[in-house]
Amino acid sequence: MSSETGPHENVSDDKNLPSAQDASGAEPEVHTNPFADPGLAPHDPRIQDIDERAAKRSERTVAMLFTVSMLATLGFIVAYAVIPVDEYVYIFPIGRISAVNFALGMTLGVALFCIGAAAVHWSRTLMSGAEIVQDRYPIGAADEDKAGALAAFGEGVRDSQFGRRKLIRTTMFGALALVPLSGVVLLGSLGPAPGTKLRHTAWARGKRLVNENTHEALRPEDITIGSLSFALPEGLEHDDHSFQKEIAKAALMLVRLEPEDIKDQQELEWSYQGIVAYSKICTHVGCPVSLYEQQTHHVLCPCHQSTFDLADGARVIFGPAGHPLPQLRIGVDDEGYLMALDDFAEPVGPSFWERG
Ligand code: FES
Repeated sequence: MSSETGPHENVSDDKNLPSAQDASGAEPEVHTNPFADPGLAPHDPRIQDIDERAAKRSERTVAMLFTVSMLATLGFIVAYAVIPVDEYVYIFPIGRISAVNFALGMTLGVALFCIGAAAVHWSRTLMSGAEIVQDRYPIGAADEDKAGALAAFGEGVRDSQFGRRKLIRTTMFGALALVPLSGVVLLGSLGPAPGTKLRHTAWARGKRLVNENTHEALRPEDITIGSLSFALPEGLEHDDHSFQKEIAKAALMLVRLEPEDIKDQQELEWSYQGIVAYSKICTHVGCPVSLYEQQTHHVLCPCHQSTFDLADGARVIFGPAGHPLPQLRIGVDDEGYLMALDDFAEPVGPSFWERG
C-alpha cells in the first residue's frame, strides 16, 4: 500500500506552497490567502464611555483647544495690524528675524495645531472607539450599500455626540469660521492695483536706443538683417534703484527686415529703414520673448510657445498670448542714432486690467 498523501493534505501542512502534483497528473491547488482572518480584538470601553464626568472633562479639553485656536487667530490679525514690518526680534537659536513674520507664524501655527489637537482628542475620547471593518465595494455601489453607508454616517454622527455636545459644536464652528480670516487679512499685503503705471515706460520722444550689453547708442547700421538685438532707453543704468522696475516695462528687441517684407502698413511707418522695435515682454504672462527665426520672421516666447509674426505687426500666430507685441515708433536723431519717437502706444505685457 502506498503511504503518499493527496494534494489537499499537502496544502494543509504548508499553506504557503502549492501542493505537489499527484500521481494522476491533476493540477496542484494554489491557496492565495492561506492565513486565517484573526478578526478584531474585543472592544474595551474607555473611561469616558462609562463615566460621564470623565466625558465632561474631555469635552472641556476639546472646547478649550478650539477656544485657544480662536484666540490665536485673533492674535494673528492683531499682530498683522500693529507690528511694524521693519521691527526685528532676536529668537534663540534662530537669530534676528522679522517680528511680524515671527508673530504671524506662531499665531497661525497655534490656531491650526489646536484645531487638529481638538479633533484628535475628541475622536479618541468621545467618539465611538469600536473598530469597524468595511469590506471593499466594487466601483459603483448598489443602492442598498449606499443606503447602508448613509446609515453608518448617521450612526457616526450620533457616536461623535456632535448633536449632544453643544459646547464642542459651538467652539468648533467658531474656530473653523475664524481661521480663514488669517488668509483674508493677508490680502492687504498685495498692495494697490497698478492703475495706469503700466501705460507709461521709460521710453519717450528723443530717447536713444542703447545696446543692452555694451550700453552704446545704436545706429541703424548696427542692426543687420537676420539678427535679433536688445536695447534699453538711454540713461537707464543697471545700478539705478529703479532699474528692475523700469526694464520690466521698457525691454525692447530690434530686428531689421527688408522693407518690402513688412505686410502691416503702420508697422512700416513706425519702422526705420526696415528696423522694427517691439516690446520684449510677452503679452501672455510676461516672459521675455527671445527666439527669432530669420526665414519666417517669427519670434517665439520660450515659456508657452506663443509665436509672433514680426513681419505682420507682431500678430500672434500660435500659442496662448492674447495680443500682438506693442511696437515702439523709432527714427534717427541729428547725429544718426536710433531714437524713440514716442512711448509705446499701448500697455506692454499682459496688462489685463488696462485693455478695453
Ligand atoms: S509668457 Fe509667453 S507664451 Fe506664456
